[in-house]
Amino acid sequence: MKNGRVIVLLGPPGAGKGTAAARVAGRLGYEHVSSGDMLRSAARAGTGAGLRARRLMNRGRLVPDELVGAIIREYLEKFPGDGVVLDGFPRTEAQAEMLDRMRGAGIASLAGVFLLKVPEEVLVERLSGRRVCKQCGAVFHVCALPPREPGKCDACGGDLIRRADDEPATVRERLEVYRRQTAPLIDGYRTSGRLWEVKADDPPERVVERITNRLGRAGNRE
Ligand code: AP5
Repeated sequence: MKNGRVIVLLGPPGAGKGTAAARVAGRLGYEHVSSGDMLRSAARAGTGAGLRARRLMNRGRLVPDELVGAIIREYLEKFPGDGVVLDGFPRTEAQAEMLDRMRGAGIASLAGVFLLKVPEEVLVERLSGRRVCKQCGAVFHVCALPPREPGKCDACGGDLIRRADDEPATVRERLEVYRRQTAPLIDGYRTSGRLWEVKADDPPERVVERITNRLGRAGNRE
C-alpha cells in the first residue's frame, strides 16, 4: 500500500472494535485488519512465533511489540488496496511509534483514530456472550447479535465457539493490561488532537454511522 488510508479503532476488550471495523471496512471498500485475528491464525499455523503468541494471548497478556509490528508492517507494505481499518493495532506507545514510522515511510496515511467508549459492565457482558465462528472468524453475541441458528455461523455454517481468552479471569487480566499499557497511548493521541471519541454502547449500525459520518466531515486528516 502506498500512502493508503488507515483508520484506527481503539478501545478496551469487548468495545466492539472487530464488529465495527468489519462494517466500516465493508462500507468504504477497505480491508478489515485485525492484529488479534492475525496472531490467532499464526498460532493455528503452528509457527514458533504463533505458538509463543498463543501462550501470551491465553493469559490475557500482550504479544511483544516487535512481533506484532513486523506482521502489520509486512501486511500493509504488500496490501494492494486503497485503505484499511486497523483493529487492535496500535495498542502500546511503542506500536504507535511504529505506525508513525510507517507513515513516514509512505506506507500509510492516518485518516482517523477512533476510541470506542463503552461502560465496563457492558464490556464484561459482551465478552461473556461472544461466540466466534471456528471456520471463518465471524463474531456473534448470544443475546445482542445472535446467529439465525443457535451455535452455527450465518456466513459459512461453521461451529460457533467461545474464545479461550473470554474466560472471566482472563477478561479481568485483559482489562487490567488495557488500563496499564493502552491507556497511555490513548492519552497521547488525545493530547495531540488526533483522537475522536465515539459512544459505542448502541447497536453496531449506529456506531458505524458515527465513525463514517465523522470521516466524511473530516476528509483525509493528512
Ligand atoms: P484482540 O482479538 O484484538 O482482542 P481485544 O482487543 O481484547 O478485543 P476483542 O476482540 O476482545 O473485542 P472487540 O473490541 O473486537 O469486540 P467485538 O467486536 O469482538 O486481541 C486478542 C489478544 O491478542 C490480546 O489480548 C493480545 O494478547 C494479542 N494482541 C492483539 N493485538 C495486539 C497488539 N497490537 N499488541 C500486542 N498484543 C496483541 O465484540 C465483542 C462482543 O460484543 C461480540 O459478541 C459482539 O457480537 C458484541 N458487540 C459488538 N458490538 C456491539 C454492539 N454495538 N452492540 C451489541 N453488541 C455488540
